[in-house]
Amino acid sequence: MSGDYLLPRIASPEDPLRLAVLISGGGSGLRALLRYQSDGPRNHVTSLVISDLKSAGGLSHASDLEIHNLAIPLSQDLKGLERRKEHEDRIMEALVSNDIEMVVLSGYMRILTPTFVAEWKGRLVNIHPSLLPEFPGAHAQRDAINARVKVSGCTVHFVDEGVDTGTIIEQRSVPVLPGDTVETLTQRIKAVEHELYPKVLDDISSGRIST
Ligand code: GAR
Repeated sequence: MSGDYLLPRIASPEDPLRLAVLISGGGSGLRALLRYQSDGPRNHVTSLVISDLKSAGGLSHASDLEIHNLAIPLSQDLKGLERRKEHEDRIMEALVSNDIEMVVLSGYMRILTPTFVAEWKGRLVNIHPSLLPEFPGAHAQRDAINARVKVSGCTVHFVDEGVDTGTIIEQRSVPVLPGDTVETLTQRIKAVEHELYPKVLDDISSGRIST
C-alpha cells in the first residue's frame, strides 16, 4: 500500500475504534455490522450513522439501537462543486464533533471529493459489489451479468481519489448463475458482504492490516 495511507490506531474492546457508517439506502450492510458489534466484544463500535438521503431506510437500524444518526442532505440552493463542498463540510463537522476515527462507506452512493479523501485516507473504506478492478461504478451487478462472467463477488478497499480504485484489502467470490437477474445477484453478493465487512474492520482495528 502506498505511503500516503494513514491507518487508524490499534484499538481494543475496552477502547474501541469509533466508526461512522455512511449509507444512502436500505442499510442491510449496516444492520449486519451493528449485529456483529453487539454480538461480542469488538475492537470497533459504530458511534454515528450518516445518510445523504432523508428517506434512507437504513437510518432506522441505527435508531432501533439508539445509535446517533443523521440525515445530511445536499443543499437545495447551491450547485456543482460548491454544493458538494458544503455537503462534505457538514459531514466533516459531524465526524469531528463525534470524535470519529474511521469512516465506513456502506452503500453510500456519492463520490467523495479529493479534499475529503485526503483528510481520511487510510481511515476511509468502501465495500463494492464486484471483484475490483472489474466492474467499478454504480452498476456493478448489471455489468457483471452483461459481461457473462461466471464469478463475481465483493471487494473491501481503502478509498482513494479515484472511483473504486483504492488499495484492495479483501475480496469474496460468488457464482453468477444462469438466469441471474440484478436482484438475485445483488442478494447473493450481499450475503458475503455482510460477513466480510465486519471481519475486515476487525483486521484493521486490530492492526492486522499493514502498509
Ligand atoms: C451493497 O451491495 C454495496 O456493496 C453497494 O450498495 C449495497 C448497499 O446495500 N455499494 C455500492 O454499490 C457502492 N458503489 P445496503 O444499503 O442494503 O447495505
